Amino acid sequence: MDKFLIKGGKALHGTVGISGAKNSALPAMAAALLTNERVMLRNVPRVRDIITMAKLLAFIGATVGTTEFPASEYSIEAKSVTDAAAPYDLVKTMRASILVLGPLVARAGAARVSLPGGCAIGARPVDLHLSALEQMGAQITTSHGYIEARAPKGGLKGARIVFEKITVTGTENLLMAAALAEGETILENAAREPEVADLIALLRKMGAQIEGDDTPTLRIQGVPNLHGTDHSVIPDRIEAGTFLVAGAITGGDLTLINCAPHHLAAVIQKLRQAGARVEETGPGRLHVRSARKLTAADVITEEYPGFATDMQAQYMALATQAEGTSVITETIFENRFLHASEMIRMGANIAIDGRRAVVCGPSRLSGTTVQASDLRASAGLVLAGLVASGETIIDRVYHIDRGYERIVEKLRAVGANIVRVHAPSA
Ligand code: EPZ
Repeated sequence: MDKFLIKGGKALHGTVGISGAKNSALPAMAAALLTNERVMLRNVPRVRDIITMAKLLAFIGATVGTTEFPASEYSIEAKSVTDAAAPYDLVKTMRASILVLGPLVARAGAARVSLPGGCAIGARPVDLHLSALEQMGAQITTSHGYIEARAPKGGLKGARIVFEKITVTGTENLLMAAALAEGETILENAAREPEVADLIALLRKMGAQIEGDDTPTLRIQGVPNLHGTDHSVIPDRIEAGTFLVAGAITGGDLTLINCAPHHLAAVIQKLRQAGARVEETGPGRLHVRSARKLTAADVITEEYPGFATDMQAQYMALATQAEGTSVITETIFENRFLHASEMIRMGANIAIDGRRAVVCGPSRLSGTTVQASDLRASAGLVLAGLVASGETIIDRVYHIDRGYERIVEKLRAVGANIVRVHAPSA
């Protein structure tokens, strides 16, 4: 397994290009299953989860073509769906595989998708996806670790679905299913994340009829067929947020390009409150600067437009360097503080109390070997390593490769002392 080796203490200076959003590209790829025509996707990040989704689509029968690095374009043509199944081997490496369920039931009338199971950050059930599909007439059974879903004769039927809890991929799955259903579907308490809005934009280009963007009520008028299109996915707001923290925590001066500042309002507001200077310096450009003197500020993770749970670990790294006590409350996932124990091993003063982490700073972090437990936790540990004295070794970086494109190269280009150590394959 590869590791990262970081020698901390360098302020980051320069310009970082932000890649396309993984969490937009994944549903966009799944949406290509809704039509027999070619869907061309651009600005797709070169990360492991995208490769997993491409493999899954190919398994299902789609022709998936891609350009070589650094271009990031995917052409997906699902002329026919030969095997409407998502096997355990692929689903276990990426929960977002559940995103093929809605499109497959809608297009092929049936689907068999492995149950994703829990993961490091929590139980993460998919009950809301399933009950919503049932309300559209699908018959769903789960046995032997698989979800089997079958549309009624004549296909899925429009329904009024009220999500008990806001779910991002649940909203996306149902948007895709409803696009080809008969009649009108109303999704209440739908997620408003920019990635949902991007999927709506793509589906509309494919011919779907959807109203209510950026509101909790989405109305979808089903159509018999969708067609091919060309779509560029939005910039990754979590990657951008991670680099904003990298600039702030190291006392650096960074410019981010190709980002979407309006998707980052909650993070920018929090960084300003903590004492960093963050400015929008042009279209798609953000500038962050800090004198490395940061002040504690509390954070509560929330659904969009609130502070994203996917930025919580990175913010915790920053809080270890801020003067005073920061209370970080995680409301989305029940077990998303695994990075805290690793930061404590580096010298941070963090106490966990259920869903609250109390961080007292500033602490002098010192490098040691730490284990990455999930994608964003890994990013938090990289940030901690950038300010720690001595050498930090981050183990199990396959987690970070799932969602950050060329993070080592991007950090090195702005002055970080970080290298990837390739482990010899067993
Ligand atoms: C999406 O996951 C993202 N993944 C996650 O990003 C992100 O952390 C999360 O939304 C929250 O913003 C993708 O977009 C591919 P949810 P998702 O359904 O859709 C509970 C990353 O690091 N719930 O919005 O799986 C659930 O357990 C990843 O890039 C149910 O109870 O999250 C959680 O507590 C990690 N039943 C809450 O809802 C359900 O059927 C929100 O989860 C579905 C969800």
